Amino acid sequence: MIMSLKLSSKTLTLGIETSCDETAAAVVEGGQRILSNYVATQDDLHAVFGGVVPEIASRRHTEVMTIVVDEALKQAERTLGDIDLIAVTHGPGLEGSLLVGVSAAKGYAIATGRPLVGVNHLEGHMMSNFVAPPEEEPAAQPLFPSLCLIASGGHTDLILIRGFGDYQIIGQTRDDAAGEALDKAARVMGLGYPGGPAIEQAALSGNPQGISFPRPVVKNSLDFSFAGLKTALVRYVQEHGLEATGGGVADVAASFQQAVVDTLVRGVTEAQEEFPVRQIMVCGGVAANTTLRLSIKQLEKTTRMPVVFPPRDLCTDNAAMIAGAGYFRAQRQGPDGLDLDVFSALPLAEAD
Ligand code: KG4
Ligand code: ZN
Repeated sequence: MIMSLKLSSKTLTLGIETSCDETAAAVVEGGQRILSNYVATQDDLHAVFGGVVPEIASRRHTEVMTIVVDEALKQAERTLGDIDLIAVTHGPGLEGSLLVGVSAAKGYAIATGRPLVGVNHLEGHMMSNFVAPPEEEPAAQPLFPSLCLIASGGHTDLILIRGFGDYQIIGQTRDDAAGEALDKAARVMGLGYPGGPAIEQAALSGNPQGISFPRPVVKNSLDFSFAGLKTALVRYVQEHGLEATGGGVADVAASFQQAVVDTLVRGVTEAQEEFPVRQIMVCGGVAANTTLRLSIKQLEKTTRMPVVFPPRDLCTDNAAMIAGAGYFRAQRQGPDGLDLDVFSALPLAEAD
C-alpha cells in the first residue's frame, strides 16, 4: 500500500549522496530551496589511478560521512533535530559507496525518528534543474512533457518527463557514457582525472575543427554510442601523436570535445523532433561543460522553447538534487523502510 507523506513548503530534507566518489550532504527546504549543499570530493585520491577505485571511494565515504553531514547542517544553520525527512541515493552507483550513504541515512533516521526515502541518482540529476538557493529561481519550471538529457560519467540518457515520477527513457548509450568517453580520452592524452574538466581546460586554446573525429550515429534510434569515437581518438594518437596539427594537445582536446558535444546536441535535436515537448533540460556532470552549454542553448532559437541547465555546481554529483528528488518521491510514495537496499543498477521508475 502506498502511504504518501504530508510535506509542506517548510519541510526540511537532509539529502545524502555517495553513489560514486563524492561524499555529499545538503539541507533543502520545501523540496526546492537549497539551504546548504556541501560536497567533499575525492578527486585527489583517484587521480593517480586515472579513475575511481571503488574500494578507496567507500573507505573515504566512511571516514568523512558524519563530518560532511555536520558541515551541511552548520552551513544551513540548522541542527539534526530540525530535520523532517532523510533522503539518500540508493542506486545506481558503486555498491560499496552506496552502502555507506544508505547505512548512515538509516542511522540519522533512527536517531531523529524521521522518515527515510531512497532516491534514484538519475532522478536526482533531473531534479537538479528544479532546486536553487532561496534567492535564486530554479533553472526549470514544471513544464511537462519535458525532454531531459542526462550526461554523466555513468549515464547518457534521453528521458521524456511527463511529470515528477513519470519517466520514459527514449534513448541511451549503447556503450560508454559521454563523461566516461571524456575521462578515457583524457587518459589517452595524458590530461589527468577527472577527464571532462581537464579536456575542457586543455581545449580552451585549441581548434575544434583541427582534427575530424567521427560523430557516431546509432541508426533508427535515439541511442548514443561513444566507443567508436574513443577508438578513433586512440588510433589517431597512435598514428599521429599529439603534435601533428601544430596546435598540440589543445587541438586534439578541442576536436574530441566538439565531437562529443555535437553528438549530444544532435541526440537532443532528434528527440524533440520525434517527441513533442514543452521544455528541454540538460543535467549530469558533462552539463557543466561550457561548449555543451553554449551549443545546447542555441536550440532555444530553433525550437522556440526553454532550454535549461543547472548552475555548474549542481551538474556534478551533489546532495541538494537528492534532497529535492526525495521530497517529491516521499510526497508521492511515502517513506521507505529501514530495510532499504542499494542497487548498482536501478531502473528509473516509468511511473509511480
Ligand atoms: O554526474 P557526475 O558528477 O557523476 C556521475 O553520476 O557520473 O558526472 C561526472 C562526469 C565525469 O565523467 C566528468 O569527467 C564529467 O562528468 N564532467 C565534465 C565536466 N565536469 C565534469 N565533462 C565535461 N566538462 C566538464 N566541465
Ligand atoms: Zn551523477
